[in-house]
Amino acid sequence: MTRRDFSARLIDWQTRHGRHDLPWQNSRDPYRIWLAEIMLQQTQVATVIPYYVRFLARFPDVARLAAAPLEDIMTQWSGLGYYARARNLHRTACKVMEDHGGRFPETAQALAELPGIGRSTAAAIAVFASDERAAILDGNVKRILCRAFGIEGFPGERAVEERLWTLAEALLPKRPENMAIYIQAQMDLGATVCTRARPICEHCPLAAECVARISGRLAELPMRRPKKALPRRMSWVAVVVFGKKVLLERRPPAGIWGGLLAFPEIPAETGIQAWVANRFGINEIDAHELPPLTHGFTHFTLEIAPWRIDLPAVPRTLAEPAWQWLELERIAAAALPAPVRKILEKLPECLNPRP
Ligand code: ADE
Repeated sequence: MTRRDFSARLIDWQTRHGRHDLPWQNSRDPYRIWLAEIMLQQTQVATVIPYYVRFLARFPDVARLAAAPLEDIMTQWSGLGYYARARNLHRTACKVMEDHGGRFPETAQALAELPGIGRSTAAAIAVFASDERAAILDGNVKRILCRAFGIEGFPGERAVEERLWTLAEALLPKRPENMAIYIQAQMDLGATVCTRARPICEHCPLAAECVARISGRLAELPMRRPKKALPRRMSWVAVVVFGKKVLLERRPPAGIWGGLLAFPEIPAETGIQAWVANRFGINEIDAHELPPLTHGFTHFTLEIAPWRIDLPAVPRTLAEPAWQWLELERIAAAALPAPVRKILEKLPECLNPRP
């Protein structure tokens, strides 16, 4: 897709299908545009609209915003989230009054010097307020570019992001009078058509040449953040069985599997024979290894090595207060973590309960 094709198709689409009457559109006032762009960072249009209208009624220009106590601004912002945005809003308003004589700077480069205004937001303000030829690169635009041009790699990674900026700049339309409609087209296409989960390619002006669509990779592009390798922990557990009962331990309320029933753990430094001798007073027990299991937690991977121990007789008292016997036929209704249930369901006694 050539640069001209890309921008011409977007501009044509925006003219016919884009949004034209959002409360911050049809204005060249940098204050109103700036306020909208800050509110729209990380927040959807439908949520922003009522806040924007109320905020403008309360603080109609940068002078009144700068003069307001921060508490009043925070009150108006409350519910929008990401409150650093509101604090930066006040700081920027004060700076505009003090350093720029009450007028917002015009260029994207100068706007990006102000608190809370990154490169993409600065470009959006400069485009909407003064038709500057500057590229934006928010999440929506990254998604459109990665899909349309088949850009590999996680867009949050520096090298990929730099490549996307270069591409976004190369794609800009030539004529400044097309800039605002082109930038709005990217925002609107990303929000309404080229969505993350369910893109509506039938409505997309780029569909015919979109690399992700043609190669069936819409779900893959843009690529997600690569997963970090998680630390692995090893856990030897005792599957102590007597007849049709299994011994389980109620886990303490805090920590993994809090309050659930799991197998007693055999500390790494204790041998199995010693553990059984110590807990059950039985020497020379027959213990054998069951198939190991891997279970993923958010912060680590647990490798579970279960050892089956068949007791010849049931002890009169249990060594630990948190221990209890569970009838194998009752595992369906018990509060068990998934890996414990999986191991129990594989025990032959469960699959073929003896009469
Ligand atoms: N998201 C960020 N800026 C926007 C704008 N000006 N219009 C619609 N959605 C946006």
